[in-house]
Amino acid sequence: MKKRIRTHTNPLNITQRLDTINIKSALMNYHQLDLEIGFGRGRFISQYAEKHPERYVVGVEVRKQMVEEFKRRYTIPNCFPIWGAGAICLEDVMPDAKISRVFIFHPDPWFKKRHHKRRVFNTDLLTLIHKKMRPGGQVYISTDVEVLYEDMLNVCQTYGNLEFIEDDPFWEQDYLTHWSMFSDLEERSQFFISFKFKEEK
Ligand SMILES: C[S@@+](CC[C@H](N)C(=O)[O-])C[C@H]1O[C@@H](n2cnc3c(N)ncnc32)[C@H](O)[C@@H]1O
Repeated sequence: MKKRIRTHTNPLNITQRLDTINIKSALMNYHQLDLEIGFGRGRFISQYAEKHPERYVVGVEVRKQMVEEFKRRYTIPNCFPIWGAGAICLEDVMPDAKISRVFIFHPDPWFKKRHHKRRVFNTDLLTLIHKKMRPGGQVYISTDVEVLYEDMLNVCQTYGNLEFIEDDPFWEQDYLTHWSMFSDLEERSQFFISFKFKEEK
């Protein structure tokens, strides 16, 4: 029998703190530390970590079953999956001013206006990401929902203190997610945002 995996877990309901002092101090040792928020089935994070053994990649996913499935399927020495909400993982696990890259791909199905508050990417999350990133750290965001793209772009433009990267080769070289494959198959447009924080903090 096929296991049913709930497609939607409301991240606002996941409030467990992450007791990860040991992880945090271990992460301090990595020179190139990256984070994917909402890794889903883990296609991107697994391939990216294997392709870049010199980097250390933390993934946080709010759906527990996906995290367990990932752990069963993969053992990748430079990849660490965590069950929890992205913002809490940033607060509790990630050291300040250490992350080089943050990935947020097809973050949420909450694209209706009334779901605005539930959206993963908002000014609070961006502020937290900024605090945790090295100066010059880069953020990569994708979606196939145009209103979400506009909303996320607006969050970035309003925040300021960052530079958009045009024609980022990352999207050709490294980017492949479960969701992006379906977007391609169904010939949906995909929208990409790449930016780096300005050096002065
Ligand atoms: C539409 S799926 C995309 C999955 C994957 N990024 C991809 O592109 O295939 C969005 C994922 O983000 C996860 N998610 C949503 N809100 C989250 C949050 N606040 N923290 C961590 N994961 C979250 C969901 O559980 C889901 O697996």
